[in-house]
Amino acid sequence: MPPPGARGAAVGANAQNPTPLDRHWRTAPLAEFVDYIVSRHHSYTRQALSRLAALVQEALKDEAGRDAETVPRAEALFGVLKTRLDHHLLAEESNAFPMIRRMATAGQAVSTATQGRSASYLLEHLSGEHGIMAKLVSETEQLLSGYAASRQTGATLSAFRNLLQTLGADLAQHSHLEDDILFPRVRAMESGNAAE
Ligand SMILES: [Fe+2]
Ligand SMILES: [Fe+2]
Repeated sequence: MPPPGARGAAVGANAQNPTPLDRHWRTAPLAEFVDYIVSRHHSYTRQALSRLAALVQEALKDEAGRDAETVPRAEALFGVLKTRLDHHLLAEESNAFPMIRRMATAGQAVSTATQGRSASYLLEHLSGEHGIMAKLVSETEQLLSGYAASRQTGATLSAFRNLLQTLGADLAQHSHLEDDILFPRVRAMESGNAAE
């Protein structure tokens, strides 16, 4: 399951060397930007998480009785990642992104619908979660990297690891768009330095 679109090259882009995609999203309407993130990255992430959950469950079943540590630990670690990531996507779609759409319409900062918190507070929390989720992907990959699975489970675990790596790359690009372009634009609007 490849990630949608050719976006890998954009990972690692910076202010001095922006990609064409970065340049586009630095000025495109914010509502269009959040729609893009949801339709491309959130949609792909949910598909990948669902497939990964099925694969790790299959591996766990096949390795039952042979491996009492590595695969169960990987399954538990992936479970934490999936729960956090599902919650993160929902938090953006039900809270942060509607707030951004309202700001774009109003042309200024507006309080959130739930707790009246500033946009910056919410965005800082979401950015912190990006780092935690990248770490969970990396830890799960490392846990399985040296594991010699049985022949029966080998193909399943290989598919799991390949897809997890692809999800990690997509997550890096997804986080880059939010942390380095979308959220700074919202903060600038909140502080009155930009208009949408
Ligand atoms: Fe997102
Ligand atoms: Fe996010």
